[in-house]
Amino acid sequence: MAEKKITTKTVRAMKGREKISMLTSYDYSMAKLVDGAGVDMILVGDSLGNVMLGYDNTTHVTMADMIHHTKAVARGARRAMVVADMPFLSCHLGKYEAVKNAGALIAEGNAAAVKIEGGEEVAEVIKAITDAGIPVCAHLGLTPQSVNQLGGFGVQAKTDAAAEKLLRDAKATEEAGAFALVLECIPRDLAKKVTESLTIPTIGIGAGPDCDGQVLVLHDMLGMFDDYVPSFVKRFAEVGQAITAGVSDYITEVKEGRFPQNN
Ligand code: KIV
Repeated sequence: MAEKKITTKTVRAMKGREKISMLTSYDYSMAKLVDGAGVDMILVGDSLGNVMLGYDNTTHVTMADMIHHTKAVARGARRAMVVADMPFLSCHLGKYEAVKNAGALIAEGNAAAVKIEGGEEVAEVIKAITDAGIPVCAHLGLTPQSVNQLGGFGVQAKTDAAAEKLLRDAKATEEAGAFALVLECIPRDLAKKVTESLTIPTIGIGAGPDCDGQVLVLHDMLGMFDDYVPSFVKRFAEVGQAITAGVSDYITEVKEGRFPQNN
């Protein structure tokens, strides 16, 4: 019998009981492997702009890119909940446009929820999307779509004022209806405080161990991408090295006439 699909209800119920595991995936085969290993949530992150498309940041990722990759991931995920990123500016041009774009990720992409970067400034949009029946995961701290405004990819909310603002933002996203919150690159103590202040689960990346769950970019944690590797990433495998070794063995055998064999 197929395992029960993880839903927003499951994810909310895990807070305080069981840590939530989330990883990115961008295609069918990887989603199938990640899902088969038992991950709770798969994020079709706009980090696909970096690891799949070779851009230097995520501002170049389009709705068409997101729908294309989300469709593939959704076909590979049987149990995990699939969350798709709302790409750069897809929810900043008014509520109508935001609901329409979120709807496309659900209806065409087959995602179960969308993720939106931002706090108080996008609270109305989060409410409009959740009112339309679409679950929203919020995202605070280092929000890569704002890289040009942030001036880089460093740790965020280091001052008292910035930490207070982040806490206000977190509460605003919860009040607006978000079912979970990603906290990226913020001090551990702040992540703990946010986690304890909210009823929805927090999912950390570079935010310490006290969040309700953790997320990593799959290509970073499997050693498949080294253009830039954040310091908080742990490599759980060296898949990049295995690919290079396998491909170079293949080349050698082709060049030496050892593959295919004549039998
Ligand atoms: O796009 C992405 O992969 C993300 C994670 C880093 C949280 O937003």
